[in-house]
Amino acid sequence: MTPVIHIVPILRDNFCFLIEGADKACLIIDPGQVVPVESYIKTHGLHPAMILNTHHHADHVAGNADLKARYNIPIIGPAAESTKIPALTKGVKEGDVIEEAGIQLSIIETPGHTNGHVSFYCAQANALFCGDTLFSMGCGRLIEGNAEILYNALKKIKSLPPQTLIYCGHEYTEANGKFALAVDPQNPDIPKRMKEVATYLSNSMPTIPVTLETEMKTNPFLRAINLRVFTELRAQKDHF
Ligand SMILES: [Fe+2]
Repeated sequence: MTPVIHIVPILRDNFCFLIEGADKACLIIDPGQVVPVESYIKTHGLHPAMILNTHHHADHVAGNADLKARYNIPIIGPAAESTKIPALTKGVKEGDVIEEAGIQLSIIETPGHTNGHVSFYCAQANALFCGDTLFSMGCGRLIEGNAEILYNALKKIKSLPPQTLIYCGHEYTEANGKFALAVDPQNPDIPKRMKEVATYLSNSMPTIPVTLETEMKTNPFLRAINLRVFTELRAQKDHF
């Protein structure tokens, strides 16, 4: 069975994801809001089976308690942030595998944006749910960790198959692309991707998922040749 991934835009620029498995059961990733997620679930006749959080920030977890109460479902999130995630049922760490509704998700620890941040990799759907670690043409801000920690987390993501579809936590692609172009002006793949992005946005469509392969060609943070360059880029982006 190949899971189906539904993208639910929430809040100003967040994405919540529903992974649909067997019998219309679904896993909910990062419900930062209740109403749009619940209405999507109803419209599509889905049956929530579990909530998963990538990290503890409110825009990823604010819907946890309400949705847990409504559907009586467990909440999985990083063990390292267990005291910060509302209504958490079970903490997970690197190498753990979650199985539910015929869907398997492997846990990859990807700290840097927060100290306990995890990503969920679904080999069946060729998909990575990476929260605020990696964005299209960008990466997360160093709110808790440092550049070296995030650099090493991104290295793990870079080792996934090139065709992996990246499902990130925010629609930041257009602004990120402007920075990418400023620091890598000779790269022809960035204007090419920006053109696609403009088309998606003008049709009110998300600019993700994007393949890891495309990110390797266009994302300055994945293209940084060493930690020193990465650190400089991350600092520059904070003031761009
Ligand atoms: Fe965040």
